Amino acid sequence: MIRQFALSKNIESLPGSSNRSELYQVATMSVNYIEITDPVYRTSWKKRNEHGYVLVEPKEHWRIPIREPGWKPKPCCLTKRFEKFDDEFSAMEVRSDDVWLASYPKTGTTWSQEMVWLICNNLDFETARKESLFMRFPFVELNGIADLPGGFDYFKIAQDMPSPRFIKTHLPVGLLPHQIWSVKPKLVYVYRKAKSVAVSFYHHMATIANYKGTLEEFTRSFMRDLQLYSPYHDHVIDYHKISHLDNLLLINYEEMKTDLPAVIKRVCVFFNKSYTDEQLAELCNHLSFESMRNNPSLNANEMVDMILTGTGRAHERDHANRQFIRKGQVDGWKSDLTPELAEEIDNWTRAKVPDVKYQKLFL
Ligand code: A3P
Repeated sequence: MIRQFALSKNIESLPGSSNRSELYQVATMSVNYIEITDPVYRTSWKKRNEHGYVLVEPKEHWRIPIREPGWKPKPCCLTKRFEKFDDEFSAMEVRSDDVWLASYPKTGTTWSQEMVWLICNNLDFETARKESLFMRFPFVELNGIADLPGGFDYFKIAQDMPSPRFIKTHLPVGLLPHQIWSVKPKLVYVYRKAKSVAVSFYHHMATIANYKGTLEEFTRSFMRDLQLYSPYHDHVIDYHKISHLDNLLLINYEEMKTDLPAVIKRVCVFFNKSYTDEQLAELCNHLSFESMRNNPSLNANEMVDMILTGTGRAHERDHANRQFIRKGQVDGWKSDLTPELAEEIDNWTRAKVPDVKYQKLFL
């Protein structure tokens, strides 16, 4: 289904070389690019206004502390724009006092970022309300995925931040900067159940990327591992496979919904922080769905306004599904997915993840 295609920009410029395949063996580039040959994607991606995606296969995975015989990171679905960024990103300097937050999209990343930032910054609510979360906690590879209006370069913002830096990424373990594994900064990973992710991701892409397909079409491409950052199951499982690392904390959206104080306590222990019950109650209040939805430093209203206006959809602004902090429920998918499609997503998980230890992360 897939075939290798164009090699890196570095390849042809290596000295003393005449043979491309030989060069391919010796090049120091960090990834391989694999063209998507899936017929549904190829014949209809433009109709759905999808990005030009490509599968990005990490190299040098010996650095990643997953010691399962035969384990290899799966190629990750990204936009072709990543080609401009790959080597620079994998060689990024990591600092030991960095805090990294990783996730598959729509799993509660923003919620977790705000929680982690506040816990690590002595509950400085004033700064949190004043300064945009997107600057306090930059999405490090975003410029390698999307052409951003306004000239923001989040990679540079992250590189230039004073320590301790707070860095968000949606990349799978295989595509993290190499120094993550030697410098070992604190890393938090958040994950969420499959049906909620599919629905939340669809509404997000329909809003932010003007995705024009239906929820069903989106879900089917998600199940063919052909949405941004797919494959989703491997993304979650691979971070669980490094759960033995002292510098990694796994947290979960559904637990944050049912028992936020318990998750906050674990995060405090992980960062060696301690707060009074009163302070923790204030934090829970700040992190409530209503409070976050009304918080301009993280609700992305401005960005959504700009995108909807720029794509002639300003009239959709007040639609419930056009909010970045959208619905915030554990079972919200029930009003979007037909029972048949919900069952299909569950069956997809059962087929892709036969190991029940991991299956329960998704169902
Ligand atoms: P829904 O689209 O299901 O509402 P991310 O930050 O990774 O993009 O995740 C976005 C999801 O987290 C959205 O899910 C959003 O509404 C939800 N979310 C954000 N803040 C939340 C909060 N305080 N409580 C519950 N859910 C929240």
